[in-house]
Amino acid sequence: MSRNAEDLARLIRDRAGDAPVRLGLILGSGLGHLAEAVDGTAIDYADLEGFPHAGVSGHNPRLVIGDLEGQRVAVFGGRAHYYETGRGDAMRLPLEVLRELGAEALIVTNAAGSMRPDIPPGELMLLSDHINFSGLNPLIGEPSDARFVPMTDAHDPLMRAGLKVAAEAEGVTLKEGVYAWYSGPSFETPAEIRAIRTLGADAVGMSTVPEIILARFLGLRVAAISTITNMAAGLSDESISHEHTKAMAPLGAAKLEKVLRRFLASF
Ligand code: HPA
Repeated sequence: MSRNAEDLARLIRDRAGDAPVRLGLILGSGLGHLAEAVDGTAIDYADLEGFPHAGVSGHNPRLVIGDLEGQRVAVFGGRAHYYETGRGDAMRLPLEVLRELGAEALIVTNAAGSMRPDIPPGELMLLSDHINFSGLNPLIGEPSDARFVPMTDAHDPLMRAGLKVAAEAEGVTLKEGVYAWYSGPSFETPAEIRAIRTLGADAVGMSTVPEIILARFLGLRVAAISTITNMAAGLSDESISHEHTKAMAPLGAAKLEKVLRRFLASF
């Protein structure tokens, strides 16, 4: 763990209290208001040296530490994407801090385009696995042998089972699928979408995969859920834009909040 992560964890504990955090939650585009559900202390990323600027609209760059359904959680209101900085490891320090605060698990959320007609915009998709189609890796340059992270079952089977049970209890449809990471920031071409569909992807987005890799590297159990905001390029007549993503994400956000609350209550 870096010195910086220890220092930041101390600063956070001084402000938010000493009780260990159990679970971290990263909020994707248009999902930022979920942080308001947490009864706790908010700290701006700007006060946490080395945290990303999270300069993408639709994100809220604050860390909120507090209680949700009786569990102590750390909610990251924004993330850094590879396409903002050219650095694949931009979320490494925040996740190191999460580990340092005591967390054992992480749930990552994002907005994504779907390639599955049975998972249309407004629905949620639980990631069963992912394809790193960017060729990038947040552990490039990590010198220790810990960099050789096994990725079989990277998407924690027990957490996924728990999330499915929670969704069912809430009457929320939660299908599982494979997420492909494209670096962005331009959206994909229809040909690229046909290519990854052929290769087994069900949804596409510009985030999450680096965070899954980093979480496993740090020994955190991890699961991820996409809110589907559009059909991927070439699969519908609707135009694809960031504005549209931000407008559609809240549709899934309400369902996501129900599922996460129910999951946490029995975590
Ligand atoms: N592609 C990539 N990222 C996205 C999409 C998409 O279609 N929708 C929301 N985020």
